[in-house]
Amino acid sequence: MANLIEIKGVTHAYKTPNGPLPVLDGLEIAVPEGEFAAVVGPSGCGKSTLTRLIAGLMKPDRGEVWLHGRLVKSPRKTVGMAFQNPVMLEWRTILQNVILPLEIVAPSMPRKDRIARAEELLALVGLGGFEDKRPSELSGGMRQRASLCRAIVHKPDVLIMDEPFGALDAFTREDLWQTMHELRAKEPFTAVLITHDLRESVYLGDQVFVLSGRPATTQYVLDVTYPGDGMRRLEGLYTPEAAAMLATLREQIQIAQGRHPGPAVH
Ligand SMILES: Nc1ncnc2c1ncn2[C@@H]1O[C@H](COP(=O)(O)OP(=O)(O)OP(=O)(O)O)[C@@H](O)[C@H]1O
Ligand SMILES: [Mg+2]
Repeated sequence: MANLIEIKGVTHAYKTPNGPLPVLDGLEIAVPEGEFAAVVGPSGCGKSTLTRLIAGLMKPDRGEVWLHGRLVKSPRKTVGMAFQNPVMLEWRTILQNVILPLEIVAPSMPRKDRIARAEELLALVGLGGFEDKRPSELSGGMRQRASLCRAIVHKPDVLIMDEPFGALDAFTREDLWQTMHELRAKEPFTAVLITHDLRESVYLGDQVFVLSGRPATTQYVLDVTYPGDGMRRLEGLYTPEAAAMLATLREQIQIAQGRHPGPAVH
């Protein structure tokens, strides 16, 4: 299958008053169409920088970012983004917030079609009946569901998520993981998920890319073979197969942090 996203030898340094700060160094990531790439790495290693490069919000000093066979040189409409703290407009209802990208990307789409599209997605993530609420009337988990709807309402080729579930409690987070799988089954898209949660990376990812410490390079790539019958069930995370994958990732993170894996702590 063709790669929808290709990050080729991407190297970048930020200009700071104290001189250049190298952040990415020869990064290589390839994501086939329809696949879900999880990206993990030490704090401050350049993960959010990577999301900005894929979205075309920044250009790398060296190397190339390709989306759908085209070199990314400027912001792309075909990218949807979701962040840790969803920014919602309080003066708009949830439905109006979800519709927003369509107003920008598809201004000629009839209003009733936009509304139908947003309603369909909100129902899919369990927010049917909340369309007319204001963002402040929703819980954090509900707001994050609405923000996922907003990120994919215009059917982007790529969904980029930067720690979207990081601020949620553990149970809400697990619910959102399942919602993510349901969305994917209904609306196939290619995804890049930045996360600090190794279980999340294994549960959602087809591949997990471990970035090294700053300047980040691709240190390790794990192909996820999720235990079970092909369905991604949460219980799969408590199997020996998943434990082995998590142990590998844990070890790689420790290497990325410049620490040698130590003895197990009981
Ligand atoms: N606009 C900027 N100008 C200068 N330095 C920046 C800028 N944005 C980020 N940095 C620096 O670049 C490095 C990488 O930042 P980035 O936000 O990409 O890391 P990250 O991997 O997303 O971190 P975290 O895991 O904490 O979210 C950090 O040291 C940060 O301070
Ligand atoms: Mg970040």
